[in-house]
Amino acid sequence: MTATGPWWREAITYEVYLRSFADADGDGLGDLTGARSRLPYLAGLGVDAVWLTPFYPSPDHDGGYDVSDHRAVDPRMGTLAELDGLIADAHRLGLRVVVDLVLNHVSSAHPWFIAARAAGPGSPKRDRFHVRPGRGVAGELPPNGWRSIFGGSAWAPFGDGEWYLHLFDIEQPDLRHEHPEVAADAAATLRFWLERGVDGVRFDAAGSLVKDPAYPELPPGWRAGDPSPYSDRDEVHEIYRRWARQLAAYPGDRLGVAETWGGPEVIGPYLRPDELGQAFAMDPLYWPLRPEPWRAGVDALLAATTRHGRLPAWVHGSHDVSRAAQRWGRDGARAMLLVMLALPGAVYLYAGDELGLPEVALADDEIRDPVFRRSGGEERGRDGARVPLPWTDGPAPYGFGPVGSTPWLPQPAGWGGFSVARQADDPTSALALTRAALRLRERCWRGRPAEVAWLDAPPGCLAFRRGADGPTCLVNLGNAAIDRRPPGSVLLASAPVGGPGLPARSAAWLA
Ligand code: NOJ
Repeated sequence: MTATGPWWREAITYEVYLRSFADADGDGLGDLTGARSRLPYLAGLGVDAVWLTPFYPSPDHDGGYDVSDHRAVDPRMGTLAELDGLIADAHRLGLRVVVDLVLNHVSSAHPWFIAARAAGPGSPKRDRFHVRPGRGVAGELPPNGWRSIFGGSAWAPFGDGEWYLHLFDIEQPDLRHEHPEVAADAAATLRFWLERGVDGVRFDAAGSLVKDPAYPELPPGWRAGDPSPYSDRDEVHEIYRRWARQLAAYPGDRLGVAETWGGPEVIGPYLRPDELGQAFAMDPLYWPLRPEPWRAGVDALLAATTRHGRLPAWVHGSHDVSRAAQRWGRDGARAMLLVMLALPGAVYLYAGDELGLPEVALADDEIRDPVFRRSGGEERGRDGARVPLPWTDGPAPYGFGPVGSTPWLPQPAGWGGFSVARQADDPTSALALTRAALRLRERCWRGRPAEVAWLDAPPGCLAFRRGADGPTCLVNLGNAAIDRRPPGSVLLASAPVGGPGLPARSAAWLA
């Protein structure tokens, strides 16, 4: 604990999407050695922590979120020793390390699932999974109409009359956390990484761990994202209470952050004092860029989190959604960065958004995301936001890997124009803005009261302070410039504020 709470309370965490961050060995996939070599860059950027996406052995049907061994490192990603080195280097640089625990499901190549498949109907080896008899004369129909989050039915047949549940890809069978061996193994995994010295864990698919044991049908008119018999049930909170006790047994305010998808009513319960420190606030990714939804949304999230003594964990971008520059436009992404950094709470930044990387349009045969396949091509999936990072200008792979190596997703021509090397000394670049904002946030916003005081603002704009005084954040969410000079002096702005006023889709911090 510091005077203002645990380290993560208002931390900036940078999501290192490992597969696309830096490839040291030239196999086309980013790895731990590559990420380790770039830690000084992240320390220089001014973030507090890095979140490493999965590095566990995996057949890679879902970018490593299909784990076949939860307590090992995939040889393509490196070794345990390399991870130890990365953690030690990070700590020397003042960075915390958060790892991603995927405990809702395993890979179909996990020994438990291989055994379950081989064991045949009715075997206790299948009890670790959600296995049900099929409907129809010979069990040829799925047990119910539950939908996979990636598209299609959430059930796949074993081919012997029984079916297994997979809320994600068919290669990601869901575990049954009520099974004592599943619970014990998850606890062992958590212990393993905490002993290794990680500062926090992200719980993947946090709300999905428990399913209604009656497996009821979805209500009529149900749509993706609506509450379901397999989302955010009361029983999942018992699991987080257990895991929270495990986290608390280690020194250093270890963080547990839930990967939640939902509004304040979903997030709030994860933040009860005996549960987790953070739960992702993803809703803002979908709020229309208009003052009212933002004002009401911020107020509601603040109320739901502060009532438990916690703060929101704002997500500015991630590997699961389109690039910030795509969602909000290039200017909007810069503006919303300043807004999120000024709000009370922690912020999660996605690798490459500090460079303003655009979403990449990939050809059908280049897409690896199972969402594309499972939705029958209806959804392009998430790979457009996962194209390997450009570090240098010049020829591909733009410093992502050694010259001559081929990244796992193709980088478009001109990608080097967005590179770290090209932006480093350009004061107008996205990188320069991010660096300046992170530095100034330390002084201006961190530790200020967790209340947002909304101020009068021109139409289409939002203005707020934290508490009764201090700096103001003013954002013009509209498509037209505001013809009025903002009051006060500009500490930082996402676009040139000189002249008449605040340009469209821009934000400023004012003293
Ligand atoms: C959330 C992860 O962020 C996403 O990438 C993955 O596909 C699902 N969980 C399943 O693990």
